[in-house]
Amino acid sequence: MTGNELREKFLKFFESKGHTIVPSSSLVPHNDPTLLFTNAGMNQFKDVFLGLDKRPYSRATTAQKCVRAGGKHNDLDTVGRTARHHTFFEMMGNFSFGDYFKRDAITYAWEFLTEVIGLPKEKLYATIFYDDNEAHDLWLELTDIPKERIIRLGEKDNFWSMGETGPCGPCSEILIDRGENYRCDAPECAIGKCDCDRWLELWNLVFMQYNRDEKGVMTPLPKPSIDTGMGLERVASVLQDVSSNYDTDLLLKLISYIEGVTGLKYRRDEKGFPFRVIADHARSCTFLVADGVLPSNEGRGYVLRRILRRAARFVKVLGWDGPFLCDMVPVVVELMGEAYPEIKEKQDYIRKVIRIEEERFHETLQEGMKVAGEIIAKVKQGGLE
Ligand code: SER
Repeated sequence: MTGNELREKFLKFFESKGHTIVPSSSLVPHNDPTLLFTNAGMNQFKDVFLGLDKRPYSRATTAQKCVRAGGKHNDLDTVGRTARHHTFFEMMGNFSFGDYFKRDAITYAWEFLTEVIGLPKEKLYATIFYDDNEAHDLWLELTDIPKERIIRLGEKDNFWSMGETGPCGPCSEILIDRGENYRCDAPECAIGKCDCDRWLELWNLVFMQYNRDEKGVMTPLPKPSIDTGMGLERVASVLQDVSSNYDTDLLLKLISYIEGVTGLKYRRDEKGFPFRVIADHARSCTFLVADGVLPSNEGRGYVLRRILRRAARFVKVLGWDGPFLCDMVPVVVELMGEAYPEIKEKQDYIRKVIRIEEERFHETLQEGMKVAGEIIAKVKQGGLE
């Protein structure tokens, strides 16, 4: 199943359960000063959870563009080192605004995973917030997960909040055991204790119940609600039986493009690091520019500049001088333009913005090298005061 098919199946499944398919919101959360970029599917519904905004539906489903670079959920420096971190990724989610709660959220998730996309029941685990007996009993009642595969964890793992403030609540995650081949070397590698590729978190079901204010005080939301999130790239990696998100059809084409242009072969070990960084960053830069962010020295523009220049540095590591990332925009568009028409429509503009920034980066780098060269020469001549 391709990534595009998976996205489609997810949205259609929840539509068949009475959810309205709502388009992804912009990566720039214009009305929320607490947030740098949209980092989760629930962001566009924050005020609906808080009871400050009303929608014509009480159930929604989305495939949401997310960027986790800067702010509370920041993955920038991890990207490329692991099989599953990204600055840009897509989060599929279903939402209930005071409609259904834990029971239906668990039922739907189980049905989608085991019946619609056919994941093996015996490999699935559920984690719950340590004192959430209700969720524990529902997993037992509604699914085939036995008691020993329901794991109680603490706040760090099983309490989700959007940021320092805002809607939050205990959560329950569904993990898949990818088997011995994926285990790490840690002697205590076990579910709930180890974060390695064997125990892959697939889906986070958040039981939204509170609003946290600046002082950390939590008040109950007007109505208990549901916010779930499942990374498209991760699930695609399981369905396509590959060990890394970068080997799914959603990202591999970008890596093949880099191979084609540079003539270098991609390796799946740490030598492939620059390929993964460039592929990931090509997506985030394309989408950020499409949503109106421009490279600059502050705020969102600065994060974009950092991402773009990080990619440009790795392009250089691969022995390539000059603009490169801008020419990957059409590849991103080919892969994702149908689901996100804005990148198709703005393709030429995005390409231009990225090209200009890449050129600026190379100029700055050359000037820096020149100055450094002059200083070194002076030092060698003993002429530096
Ligand atoms: N908001 C939760 C998350 O991002 C579930 O969607 O994990």
